[in-house]
Amino acid sequence: MKITYYGQSCFGIEISGKHLVTDPFVTPNELAAHIDLLSIKADYILVSHGHQDHIHDLEALAKHTGATVVSSWEICTWAGTKGIEKVHPMNTGGKWQFDFGTVMCVTAQHSSSFPDGTYAGNPMGFVVWNDRECFYFAGDTALTMDMKLIPMLCPPLSCALLPIGDNFTMDVNQAIIASDFIKCKEIIGCHYDTFGFIKIDKEAAIKAFSAKDKNLRLVDIGSSIEF
Ligand code: NI
Ligand code: MN
Repeated sequence: MKITYYGQSCFGIEISGKHLVTDPFVTPNELAAHIDLLSIKADYILVSHGHQDHIHDLEALAKHTGATVVSSWEICTWAGTKGIEKVHPMNTGGKWQFDFGTVMCVTAQHSSSFPDGTYAGNPMGFVVWNDRECFYFAGDTALTMDMKLIPMLCPPLSCALLPIGDNFTMDVNQAIIASDFIKCKEIIGCHYDTFGFIKIDKEAAIKAFSAKDKNLRLVDIGSSIEF
């Protein structure tokens, strides 16, 4: 599994030979100015919720790549009105077998509306696995006891992509507790530094994780890591 960070909560994940992209938000992100949105490969785009910093580039990327959008019923319906042809609507608690593996939608404790204020369904996270690898993309979420269900319902996690920027989501210390709940020591941080409310001290964050014998990776935008 190869994971590339594109800033905010946007990742490219290569699993079972397919390209998954999460929460496309690249072109408005000054930190990702060196990323060419349309060079990102996507067979599937997983969308956690309707906020601008998660869907701004959804329409452009989905139309350019022809990817299938996997998200809530409400976001898939909205995508349809934008002319995105391939969608797979899901909701929290549900799972589906795709050609790259299984996707399970899990609770995210957050809110979800479109940039114009209309309802975008419930926010969600995703656990994705094949017979060798498993990752959790949390979306935007508070720390929630529901995370304890993940190791009960899913294979052991290879890594987890957790928000750590505070203000709108978990902070670093809550993400450390989350990593206990999900029984995963390999954490990739996201949803930090993009704008003023979520600036963090990266060095302190990495130290806080390593003090608890966990590994926080803060991947440079445009760089990849393998699991
Ligand atoms: Ni949000
Ligand atoms: Mn957000």
